[in-house]
Amino acid sequence: MSLKDEDVVRRWRWATRAIHAGQSPDPTTGAVTPPLYLTSTYRQISLHVPSPYEYSRVQNPTRESLEQNLAALEDGQSACAFASGMAALTALAMTLRPRDHVLVALNVYGGTYRLFQSVLRAWDLDVEFFYPVTPEEATARIRPGQTRWVFIETPSNPLLEIADIGAFARVASDAGTLLVVDNTFMSPYLQQPLRLGAHVVVHSTTKYINGHSDSLGGAVVFGTDSVVEPLYEEVRFVQRSTGGVLSPFEAWLVLRGIKTLHVRMDRHGANAQAVAQFLREHPAVERVYFPGFPDHPGADVHARQAHGPGGMVTFSVRPDWDLDHFFRNLQLCIFGESLGGVETLISHPETMSHAALPEEVRRRLGIHPRLVRLSVGLEDPADLIEDLAQALDRARVG
Ligand SMILES: Cc1ncc(COP(=O)(O)O)c(C=O)c1O
Repeated sequence: MSLKDEDVVRRWRWATRAIHAGQSPDPTTGAVTPPLYLTSTYRQISLHVPSPYEYSRVQNPTRESLEQNLAALEDGQSACAFASGMAALTALAMTLRPRDHVLVALNVYGGTYRLFQSVLRAWDLDVEFFYPVTPEEATARIRPGQTRWVFIETPSNPLLEIADIGAFARVASDAGTLLVVDNTFMSPYLQQPLRLGAHVVVHSTTKYINGHSDSLGGAVVFGTDSVVEPLYEEVRFVQRSTGGVLSPFEAWLVLRGIKTLHVRMDRHGANAQAVAQFLREHPAVERVYFPGFPDHPGADVHARQAHGPGGMVTFSVRPDWDLDHFFRNLQLCIFGESLGGVETLISHPETMSHAALPEEVRRRLGIHPRLVRLSVGLEDPADLIEDLAQALDRARVG
């Protein structure tokens, strides 16, 4: 597999990188789409000649293509791809040591909260959640020499709260700790935390990056700062030692999805804007959370650090409307977990994505039973609005 020179890739603009970084036509056949290397092992030449590929838990050309592509898209140095977003974060966390202190924003994805709270605490990690998610709160809690990471997610899930990545990066760097950002909701097309000073980015590629609701995956992307280089080596070691790797087939699917990521994200944003505006004017809706509204808290920070609102819209429904009826009445929007696919998905954070949080944490964050999360897809927005309107109209009980 011939790969392009790093300097050539760095000169390319984002859309060009999405389509070409980490991949070239197959040198043997000229096939434009790089081959899918569905193999677990590789023939070795001799006892004395090292071979670039030995075993697919350690190296696989298709996974490597995706890792190089993701590093280029985030403007990072390197990336490691895993079997899910949670596997990626777990591998990164395995580089922490007992009694290391990590500061984690309380408004992270429910599964991330559960990983830190219920799994990593048992490994004697000193996990401290902080809220509100402001640089001042983080500064007050950082313990010099002991705090290894500050971990944030922006916009947050599901209330789309905004954290100022550049300000957090300054706080982390001044204290000699690392800023880790979950960039799943934005994708590297809309937001590049490493460019804003973050050290490491994590993704669930299951969502927008793959974009077609047909694969699970995750990645850790490392910045170019020299303090991050040893961490990359450690995560690579964890990856090959623990084996939670992304399969070659799924890596191939994700590479395929990425080729249209920029086009999809722009349309997700435009569709979400139309749907959010409709919801804001509907009598059933109490409040709409959408970073594309100028009066959304933190909209100015978001506009500075991201190139669009993204496709997520959250709203609360007034008590005179029966939520269960609303979900059952939908004919187009699909009631289900996950986000970031071409089809519109609608979910109930209280019982789905954030069920892992204790009730008092959900209430503190403002997550309540009348909250609905929409991942606006790429259908015609007029059809989405008609579907939501008919489902809401038929769910009125008061
Ligand atoms: C923001 C965010 N990060 C991480 C994850 C975990 O990813 P995965 O489901 O691929 O393990 C999710 C899943 O919903 C998510 O929404």
